[in-house]
Order: sequence, then C-alpha cells, then structure tokens
Amino acid sequence: MPFLLSSLSGALRPSPIACLSALLLLMTVTACAPSPDSASSAADHAASTEAVKDVHSFANPQDFAVRHISLDLTVSFTERALSGTAELTLERRSEADKVILDTKDMEILEVSTSEGPAEFHLGDGNDALGRPLHITVPEKADTVRVRYRTAPGAGALQWLEPVQTASGKYPFLFTQSQPILARTWIPLQDTPQVRFTYDARLEVPPPLLALMSAENPQQVADNGVYTFRMDQAVPSYLMSLAVGELEFRSIGARTGVYAEPSVIEASAYEFAETEQMMVDAEAMYGPYRWGRYDILVLPPSFPYGGMENPRLTFATPTILAGDRSLTALIAHELAHSWSGNLATNATWNDLWINEGFTVYFERRIMEQLYGADYAEMLTQLGYQDLEATVEDFAETPQYTHLRLELTAEQDPDDVFSDIPYEKGSFFLRALEEQVGREAFDEFLREHFDRYAFRSLGTNELVERLKEDLLQGDEEAIAKAQLDAWIFGPGIPDNVVIPSTDAFAVVDAELNALAGGRPAAQLNTADWRPQQWLHFVRQLPEGLTQQQLADLDVTFGLTSAGNSELLNAWLLQATERGYSAAEESQENFLLSMGRRKFLRPQYEALAETPEGKERALDIYRRARATYHPVSVNTIDRVLGWEESEEGS
Ligand code: BES
Ligand code: ZN
Repeated sequence: MPFLLSSLSGALRPSPIACLSALLLLMTVTACAPSPDSASSAADHAASTEAVKDVHSFANPQDFAVRHISLDLTVSFTERALSGTAELTLERRSEADKVILDTKDMEILEVSTSEGPAEFHLGDGNDALGRPLHITVPEKADTVRVRYRTAPGAGALQWLEPVQTASGKYPFLFTQSQPILARTWIPLQDTPQVRFTYDARLEVPPPLLALMSAENPQQVADNGVYTFRMDQAVPSYLMSLAVGELEFRSIGARTGVYAEPSVIEASAYEFAETEQMMVDAEAMYGPYRWGRYDILVLPPSFPYGGMENPRLTFATPTILAGDRSLTALIAHELAHSWSGNLATNATWNDLWINEGFTVYFERRIMEQLYGADYAEMLTQLGYQDLEATVEDFAETPQYTHLRLELTAEQDPDDVFSDIPYEKGSFFLRALEEQVGREAFDEFLREHFDRYAFRSLGTNELVERLKEDLLQGDEEAIAKAQLDAWIFGPGIPDNVVIPSTDAFAVVDAELNALAGGRPAAQLNTADWRPQQWLHFVRQLPEGLTQQQLADLDVTFGLTSAGNSELLNAWLLQATERGYSAAEESQENFLLSMGRRKFLRPQYEALAETPEGKERALDIYRRARATYHPVSVNTIDRVLGWEESEEGS
C-alpha cells in the first residue's frame, strides 16, 4: 500500500484496483550559462553564448561571477531558522566595485570581504524578487562573506512538526529552490546563468541526518555535524537541503534511496529499476556525469512530484503506488541530469528548454524500459493534459507560448503550467518525426555535450536547430514551424497526435458504459494503471448518480491506492456531485501537499458555492501543513487573503 494514501485506503474497502497504479507525468528541464569550471569554456563559448537578460535576478554576473560558495550553517528547529555564513568566491569580470546578490526575507547581520569589513546595503526590490544586496568589493578582494539568518517564513523552506512525519518522533526540514527561492536561504546570484561549486558544514540536532545536492553521508553523525562537497558546478536553483529522521538503502551500483524508516522498504521496492534507467539513458544521450544518483523520499507535504537536485532527486511519497506504475517521474528527474542540470535554461522564460526536453527524454527512457506501447500511453495522457491546458489559457494565450515574456514583477511560479512540459515535448517529437530518430538523437547527444555545465536561451537553441538539426535547409526550417511552436499560441498542426490500441480498448468500454452497460459487465481484465486513468478521465457525460455508484463499488475508485487515479476520480466525483467520495477527498487534501493534486481539487470544489464552503473548511485545517509553494497557489485559488479566514 502506498505510504501516503495508506491512512485513507486503510479506512476503506479494498478493491480490484486499489493497488493498481496509473499515471502519467509530464515535465522537464534544461539550461544555459557560461561554463563555470574552466578558463577555456567562458572564452571558447563567448562567441556562441549570447548574454541573456534574466529579469528575475538583481545580480550583476557581468561584473562579478560567483564561482564557489562555502556554507557554514546551524539548523534550528525551535527558531525555524538557518543561521551562519556564506562565503562566496568571486571572479572579477569588469572594473565595477560592487557585487549585487539576490536575497529575500533574510536578515543580513554582517558582511566582509577577504580585505576586511565591507560596506553593504539592501536596495529596493519587489514582492516577487526580494531585495538586492549591494556589497562594495575592494580591488584586491576575491571573496565576500555574509553572516545571515533566514526568516521563519522563508519561501524555500518547509519546517515540519513531528506529527507531519511518518514516525511522528522528530521534526523535518526540506528546501525547494527552483525557480527563484534559493535567495530565501542563501544570499547568492540567483540566476540559472551563474554556476558554482560548493562546500558546506551543517550543524543539526542529533540524531537527524542532513542531505544536500552533493556528496552525501549514508549514516547519522552522532554529533549532528555534517560536511558536504559539490565539485560539479551547479546553478543556484539546484541548491538543496533536507534534515530529518532518514535512513539509506542501496538499490544499485550507483543508486540508493533515503527515506523515513517506515517507508524505506516500500521506496527500495518502488525504485528498484533506477539503475536500469540510468543505463538506458546513457546509451541514448551520453554518460551520466554526476557520480551517484540517489532518491530522497520526502514526507507527503513536498509540493512537487519530484525535483532534480543533482545527485539527490527529491520525490513525493505519492508515487509509492506499490507496483512501480508511477516511476516515469523518476525517469523524468533522472533525465534532468542531462536536460537542465547539464544544459540549463538561461532564464525562467526559457523553462521549456529544461522541461520540454526532459519530458521527451523521460518518455524515451520509459520506451526503453517498458516498450513503445507503454510509452505511447504516457504520451497520449500527456496530450490530453496539453489540450486541456491550452483550453484553460483561452483568455491568456500568451501563456501557451513555449518562450514566455514574464516581467520582473511576475513570479515565474504564478504561471507554472503543463505548457513548457507537454508542448515542449510535442515540439521535439514533431522535430524527431521530420528528421528521423537517428538524426534527432545525434543532435541531442551533441546538444548535451556542447552545453554541458552551461546555459542556453531560446534564441540560441533556435539557431542550433536551424543550423545543426535542419542544416540550414530553408524548406525544412519552414516545415518545422519553429516560430509557431516557440513564439505562438496553441498547438501547431505538425504535432504528432499519439494514439494507442491500449486506449482504443478502453474507449470501447466507455462507449458501452455510455449505452447503459453495468460496471460488472465491462471488460476491464488486465488493464494497466494508465488504462484505468484514461477510463476515469474520459467517463462519458450524463452518467447518473446510480451509475457512478455502480462504477465506484465495482472498481473501488474512491479508495484507489494509486494517487493519480484517485486524483482523477475525485475530480470527476466533485464535478458530478457524487457525494460518496467527499470523505476520501477530504482525507486526500489533508494527507499530502503536492500542488499538482491540490490545485485541481480545490479549483473543482470552488466551482460551486457549497463546494467552496467545503474547500475553505478543509483548507482552514490543511493550510498550516502545506509548503509555502502550495500555500501561495491555493491562497489564490480560494481568494484566501480576502476571505474572513485570511484576515
Ligand atoms: N523541475 C521540476 C519542478 C519545478 C519546475 C519546480 C519549475 C519549480 C519550477 C521537476 O522536474 C518536475 O517537473 N516535476 C514534476 C514531475 C514530472 C514527472 C513532470 C512534478 O513535480 O509534478
Ligand atoms: Zn522537470
């Protein structure tokens, strides 16, 4: 049984599909920036890498670029604060005498450089970006050192009470830095165009384990002191930290899982295929360059499905379906080790370069692992998501462009959607269709190589597509519809629309259902979780309450153990006023904080006045258990600030 859903499924009747897992995942990442690590790269690539303006950072990397960060921090659960120092090693790139760092909601206590105490001040900023920290750097100085303390409400941090963990014994802390939250826990140049190596010394309360996106311990240190090194240069959004009651279990030559003790076993089972995924990925797109690949299974309030922190993917426990049916998410985060963590988007307006490439890559891994039919089901579910998202944005079609035009006042997180993921991956699939898989794979291999440990923006990528992939052939370039995909709305007509026999089989049963056939007489034998998901998503209009109850009782939908399937069913139940699922929905919303599930559930509830009342009633109790990322989103969905509850 899945950890996260165990409380509710345990309370409900077991069912034929309670242990099935369906699902689909859709998203990805890439990147760009001058290479961090060698004298050669910056100069070599200066001609090819355009300087791209990142409106979401106050930093001035054209004057000073941070090359290394040394952290020395104490983690206090009682004060809900990280405090200590960050020492930044600078590369001087101009005559300027000030370095500007990004900060948000943090207290700056003292600043010095290698030459002694330094002058500094916090400038004006805005709600989305925080405030710039200006530091005067004497000519001979090559480091700045900031003593600081994070705010209790720091946007990257979630401080969990013991009751929010599996054992209930110890508190837990984890970070989420992407896209622009690293600045709430480290003063740094918070743009994906700057890369740095780092080391850290952390003091945490024993007997907790501390982990970072770095070389990690596998055992608890009795004194609570941990040291970390990260020798591969990373952009700021990949900085991460987790502290809690955690155990390690090896699952392969280069892979392992960290989890709370009660879910370590389930996690090791669920992710046992990870090493094979790595082998498949390397065979397609070149060596895995990060050493180990471990997975950290977080408590259920983790706001994302997964986060590709280097060497240590962070994952939601909602993918512990018990049958490995939701592991495309691991393929996705692993794929980011190339698309995103090597080749990084230059700005958050280029997020599709990270996520679109990664969804494409993820599906190629799944195809290797489970075959083309399986991957095609995932692709078809993704296409359904894409169509729905394009429809949702009917009034604001600019948000369906791959390349976004967000301003400094807009938090990139506020327009987060499936577009960069699904439209991005369908764009790449259309290109693959046009040039053939062999040529496309060769292009991708070269792309990851060329941009390894660097960033690139959309314009530069367009140049590479035209020159390298399409070889300057004007006809081929026109046929690819690059501008329509990247700078235009909706779905261009050279999209490859997926279709699978596996779903045609389901469609036939959906027709029979619409014609009045009872659930028990539908032929659902041997359906895979993805087929169940398709079935529930596509339920015909006009089903009676009795038919819904028949489906529910026959297939155990309200107690589904697969989180994707449960999510889809609870949405249907809400939209169709099927009240027998209300208790399950309430448990779902109170038992996890994954935004991908929370948002549609609260949105569906908010469609009617009674539903909105229920939503507010649930949210009043749940809000304190959600991560700031999810709180921000659901506050907006429910108009929390304006409601009496918020004031
Ligand atoms: N890097 C993303 C998460 C992200 C993107 C956080 C942009 C903040 C800003 C991660 O790789 C991701 O895409 N996660 C998905 C799962 C995936 C299978 C589509 C998620 O969390 O749902
Ligand atoms: Zn992703």
